[in-house]
Amino acid sequence: MAKIQQNNEVIGNETKSVYSSEYQQVMFDFDAKLKSVISHGSDNAVKKHRERGKLLARERIDLLLDPKTPFLELSSFAAFDQYNNNFPSAGIVSGIGVIHGRECMIVANDATVKGGTYVRETIKKHVRAQEIAFKNNLPCVYLVDSGGIFLPEQSKVFPDRYDFGRVFYNQARLSAEGISQIAVVMGSCTAGGAYVPAMSDETIIVRNQGTIFIGGPPLVKAATGEEVSAEELGGGEVHSSISGVADHLAEDDIDALKICRRLIEKLPKATKFESTIQPEKSPLYPSENIYDLLPIDLKKPIDMKAIIKHLVDGSDFQEFKETYGKTLITGFASLKGIPIGILGNQSFLTAESARKGAHFIQLCNQRQIPILFLQNITGFIVGKKYEHEGIARDGAKLINVVANSSVPKITLIVGGSFGAGNYAMAGRAYDPDFLFMWPHARISVMGGEQASGVLKNIGGNGASNNLIDQFEEESTAYYSSSRIWDDGILDPAQTRDILGLAFTITLNQKLGNTKYGVFRM
Ligand code: COA
Repeated sequence: MAKIQQNNEVIGNETKSVYSSEYQQVMFDFDAKLKSVISHGSDNAVKKHRERGKLLARERIDLLLDPKTPFLELSSFAAFDQYNNNFPSAGIVSGIGVIHGRECMIVANDATVKGGTYVRETIKKHVRAQEIAFKNNLPCVYLVDSGGIFLPEQSKVFPDRYDFGRVFYNQARLSAEGISQIAVVMGSCTAGGAYVPAMSDETIIVRNQGTIFIGGPPLVKAATGEEVSAEELGGGEVHSSISGVADHLAEDDIDALKICRRLIEKLPKATKFESTIQPEKSPLYPSENIYDLLPIDLKKPIDMKAIIKHLVDGSDFQEFKETYGKTLITGFASLKGIPIGILGNQSFLTAESARKGAHFIQLCNQRQIPILFLQNITGFIVGKKYEHEGIARDGAKLINVVANSSVPKITLIVGGSFGAGNYAMAGRAYDPDFLFMWPHARISVMGGEQASGVLKNIGGNGASNNLIDQFEEESTAYYSSSRIWDDGILDPAQTRDILGLAFTITLNQKLGNTKYGVFRM
């Protein structure tokens, strides 16, 4: 992702004219890349799909959701610049939308992309969607239209812990938690894929269109010599009246989506955790002005307080320890009416700023206030003086509280995300509920020049321009999003709306008690 998609209109296009000149090129590039990944498969595949009377994956989602409500699409750039760009959005659309007022996780196969088959990123995206559903107590709707595993990639998608089998494992665990699993079979569900509907609490299948079978007609013929059509083997009539693998028979896509909406309507009401929601207030500064605050050159500082004032309600930010550990800004605000705590980097982390951050996160946990991490971090301060003062010990305190914090946390990478600073500021390994990046942001263990310098000093062979080029390529937001190291790339001007949606979703969590490990004093 992305922009918020609403009834197939992209909100925010009108902001183009106000891009700052420096950021304009970044946004033109972002828009062009986004357009290429959300355009589904090839023209031929789309034509064939439509001739079969089927709707495209994003059209299906649009009809499933309540009118005029936003869809928080995740990881649109999955598989970008991989597989010769033959898997736009990794052939699957995932995200959170509202059905009869209830937030739901939607996972929709895109059959126009290699028959909706799964490569590594497709699985990662599907599994990630289920993890978000698990944590945030979101009913799952699977709009199934898939040929299963993309066979040439089988060794990368079949056997390991988080490979294809994890999808069905997660369905079993989600269902056991009372998180509803609903499948709408709108095309193929072959082999392992047959378990998506079979493992669901309720399944809808479209007549003369949906099929579910462990082995398709060619495999049956090869194995037993039996000749049977797909419809006869595992079509809608078969599964809704003979096998019982499906529970509802729909006439077409639209009918199936209507039935699905009715099923969600009948689910028990969701309970949200107590948060003192205030009426929402706009920031004092237009969101589009954020572009002017973003230097393309990451060596130039970003004014984090100014960014915060463009994101939060009324631009009202109550700072905590304003004059101490100033390289980390901490404080309280509201976003779309939801009280949040914010930690934002103003420079590298020092012992004081690490202790300040740890103290602040403890406050947020004690008060049950969700946290927003704004990363622009080169790492912890280095040098003899700081090592002697025990910077590693103070850094560890911050990492300890971030790892054990139990309130919702969302991370936004606004600039650089390098080294252990990434860990201390709730990088992916620290399980933030959502992690987003801005289009020009960078993520890697260190900058290319620094890595080259390190290798030069230790006499390594890789100290060359090649290494700098490699780091340059591997650290972009698109490289990260393609591999699902994040949940999406955001248009800075839409970030407030998207964070508002994301924090609203986290209010569905059941909060546990916070426990910390041993702090080295
Ligand atoms: N692995 C690799 N490629 C696959 C595939 C698979 N499982 N299933 C489909 N494809 C590819 C096709 O080769 C074709 O590629 P192309 O665009 O480069 O020509 C593309 O996906 C579309 O497939 P096609 O058969 O033309 O589309 P369709 O809409 O008529 O049928 C399926 C789609 C999924 C019903 C059909 O392709 C099929 O039955 N595939 C095999 C399913 C299977 O046995 N899976 C078991 C894996 S666990």
